Amino acid sequence: MSTSEKRLIYDGIHIAPSILSADFSRLGPAVAEVMDAGARVIHFDVMDGCFVPPITIGPLVASSIADQVHEAGGVLDVHLMIDRPDLQFEEFAKAGADGITFHAEATPHVHRALGAIRELGCLAGVAINPGTPVEAVSELRGSADLILAMTVNPGWGGQAFIEGSPDKVSRLKPVAGDALIEVDGGIGTETAGRMTAAGASLLVAGSAVFGAGDPAEAYSKILAAAEAG
Ligand code: DX5
Ligand code: ZN
Repeated sequence: MSTSEKRLIYDGIHIAPSILSADFSRLGPAVAEVMDAGARVIHFDVMDGCFVPPITIGPLVASSIADQVHEAGGVLDVHLMIDRPDLQFEEFAKAGADGITFHAEATPHVHRALGAIRELGCLAGVAINPGTPVEAVSELRGSADLILAMTVNPGWGGQAFIEGSPDKVSRLKPVAGDALIEVDGGIGTETAGRMTAAGASLLVAGSAVFGAGDPAEAYSKILAAAEAG
């Protein structure tokens, strides 16, 4: 898939189910369930035990679901919550990542890192923590395809949404240029509409989707709330 084809799939309002909250003993069926319900962006959380305390999953697991995601017409949205992210871009691109997002707090070379991701044929994303001002990405107009504003502190699913997040995304919107605004953490039917109204289009939801009795129904309800925002 070319980068422009990837970008076309990312365009528009999306709920991106985060597999962090899925049952890993049946990961393939869990991904199929949300994709059958219409999800086209599957969010993949990588944690290294250093940038954030938990250790999660890496390229091996990404490659185990990438074909399934692509065959269903979707993209794999990799979120690196790791130190030295530049050392891992190539492995994730080889594993089938379509978008690779790293944290601005994890490297002094944000601009160079974004270029390295694009050279691998992936959409390039930069994430900022709740405590990082939007000005941290204001010089990246044209260099980033995705800007991810964390709406919880990274590291765990199921945390409470930080209430100042819609206001922060409103301030991010004018500095984001053409980059899509992604939000991650505490997104559900109560918060999705406030985030799209503020300017986000890609909304990650983990526990609100996979923690629900019926993930497909939960996905559809959050999408409806996002579209009504
Ligand atoms: C948290 C991760 C999120 C997580 C979101 O650090 O980056 O993607 O899965 O989980 P919820 O939607 O439960 O807040
Ligand atoms: Zn994430």
